[in-house]
Amino acid sequence: MSVAQHSSRITIPELVGRKGGEPIAVLTAYTAPVARLVDPHVDMILVGDSLGMVIYGMSSTLPVTLDMMIAHGRAVVNSSAHAAVTVDLPFGSYQASPAQAFASAGRVMAETGCDAVKLEGGTEMAETIAFLVARGIPVMGHVGLIPQSVHVLGGYKARGRDPKEAKKILEGAIAIAAAGAFGIVIEGTIDAVSREITAAVAVPTIGIGASAACDGQVLVIDDILGLSGDFKPKLARRYVDLGSQIAEAARTYAADVKAHRFPGPENVYGLSKTST
Ligand code: KIV
Repeated sequence: MSVAQHSSRITIPELVGRKGGEPIAVLTAYTAPVARLVDPHVDMILVGDSLGMVIYGMSSTLPVTLDMMIAHGRAVVNSSAHAAVTVDLPFGSYQASPAQAFASAGRVMAETGCDAVKLEGGTEMAETIAFLVARGIPVMGHVGLIPQSVHVLGGYKARGRDPKEAKKILEGAIAIAAAGAFGIVIEGTIDAVSREITAAVAVPTIGIGASAACDGQVLVIDDILGLSGDFKPKLARRYVDLGSQIAEAARTYAADVKAHRFPGPENVYGLSKTST
């Protein structure tokens, strides 16, 4: 039986009810073993399209496909039982029209069993969000530094320093909240703008490189585990250095193989059928 079959997950309305209350803890996860480990501790698991860069070594999130999101989303849903699971809609799968977004989001919801989808954009996505929500799909918005628009933005620098841009981000957040988004990720946006958005909208804001004033926080799992190598984004905190531990385990294993220390007697099969 998969974990999901006896699940009692945090629901989307429960998360909405946390606005201004206990901060909402969100982590990304992309695989079954990591989902299993983080699930009891967080309120939401985000299967982010950051998986393109984190898991597949892509240079941006743009090449990520709907099929990739569905495969990873299903693995995470099947391996979790407590946290709500939100799956990103990838670049090109929703921007063309509300109907295209519904076709993509419908596949993600039906084929993964997730609780919600997330998409990027402000005012220009409000109509699409209203269309999806009216048809039964909970949507989380994402404003500020929106990585799928990296080529328009010109890089991954923090947004909102220019007052005109700050106003646009704020107006976008208000528009998608009014359209029915149940929550909004604010990424890479100066503290003052994130605070203003959090005060202006009635749904929880989830910050990443945003503000301690947000209603919750999200980080990319590899960044907190020390699996991002020399890439140490200012917005993250490294809680453990698994990268060094994995490298050391690999080094010791290889040395053991070369010195005939592995396998040991306990690792080889004998005649007895009781040995596994
Ligand atoms: O793709 C992702 O992991 C995200 C988070 C960084 C918010 O969108």
